[in-house]
Amino acid sequence: RQAERGGYAHFMLKEIMEQPDVWGDCLLGRTEGDRVVVEELGLTETQLEQVRRIQVVAAGTAYHAGLIGKALIERLARIPVDVAVASEFRYQDPVLQRGTLVMAVSQSGETADTLACINLARQQGMPTYALVNTVGSTIARESDAVVYTHAGPEIAVASTKAYTTQILVLTLLALALADVHGRPRPDLVRSLLTLPKMGADILAEMEHIEDMASRLSTNRDVFYIGRGLDYALAMEGQLKIKEIAYIHAEAYAAGELKHGTLALIEDGTPIVAIVTEDSVAEKSISNILEVKARGAEVWAIVDDRLKTRVPVDHLIPIRVPNALLAPALAALPLQMLAYWTAVKCGQDVDQPRNLAKSVTVE
Ligand code: G6P
Repeated sequence: RQAERGGYAHFMLKEIMEQPDVWGDCLLGRTEGDRVVVEELGLTETQLEQVRRIQVVAAGTAYHAGLIGKALIERLARIPVDVAVASEFRYQDPVLQRGTLVMAVSQSGETADTLACINLARQQGMPTYALVNTVGSTIARESDAVVYTHAGPEIAVASTKAYTTQILVLTLLALALADVHGRPRPDLVRSLLTLPKMGADILAEMEHIEDMASRLSTNRDVFYIGRGLDYALAMEGQLKIKEIAYIHAEAYAAGELKHGTLALIEDGTPIVAIVTEDSVAEKSISNILEVKARGAEVWAIVDDRLKTRVPVDHLIPIRVPNALLAPALAALPLQMLAYWTAVKCGQDVDQPRNLAKSVTVE
């Protein structure tokens, strides 16, 4: 077992650490100069041209990747994206308009609710598209088109490398849609190719996170806050720590704090803040100051350029090439924080109680 884990104590740690390599595999051959090779995404240019709207259906971590994808596609390609939890969508009698691409995001490709959404879309004559990790899985087979994340087998129940590769493929899709729809966009492709190296650098500087996690592990409840992409990341961060450390966690859009949650902040309340979105960084920083003023203890994952501006108790600075490319990088310390917190809590990291890797029955 130790050998299978590549010398790591847990599959989750192995899968976190292999992300830089896996990202390289995921991106390989999918770009050319500053362009995305459209066919590598499993769709033709004509199919992309016809997309007027995207409906993402997914569960768990894949749902959170969908939220990142929504922000990227809307900002870069100006195409509206809705993201639904599959178990809700399938029973909602959803309105699907012509020109909508129904896209399933799934690591296993076997999640029953997500599959049901694809079948429902097909019955309504909608084009379906699968972003999955497991080659030949049911969702991949049942969808009209498929793109793989190429993350390799993910064994730990808590998803890590599948999530970040889903983000990378969604980034490629956003760039391809922008080009096909004639939207001017920044040249992100070359920066995208630097992510494996940047991710490796971040992972090489994670020794301090074990101590930070020790401290976090003494709490029963923790809030995760952020804005924009950072809020979507916060949602994944809070799920991770719930899943494996069994610590109750909640993600809040930082600007919503004052509409309720601020009432819960008192001396010592733990908060994990994420600040990588430069366009809203000032706003997030003022939210951090608000919770600090009420005595909160703050762990913060911040863009290196902002680190002197964020007065927190536990600082995790990361270098990012561009705010739109920050999510996969910022996910690394979030995963590490959850991992070490679970270890400090003495939990079974790879096999959390009551959870399954793949939920193939309702
Ligand atoms: C289970 C797993 C999660 C995963 C979710 C969706 O709950 O424990 O880690 O995010 O299913 O799985 P999928 O294979 O569809 O991505």
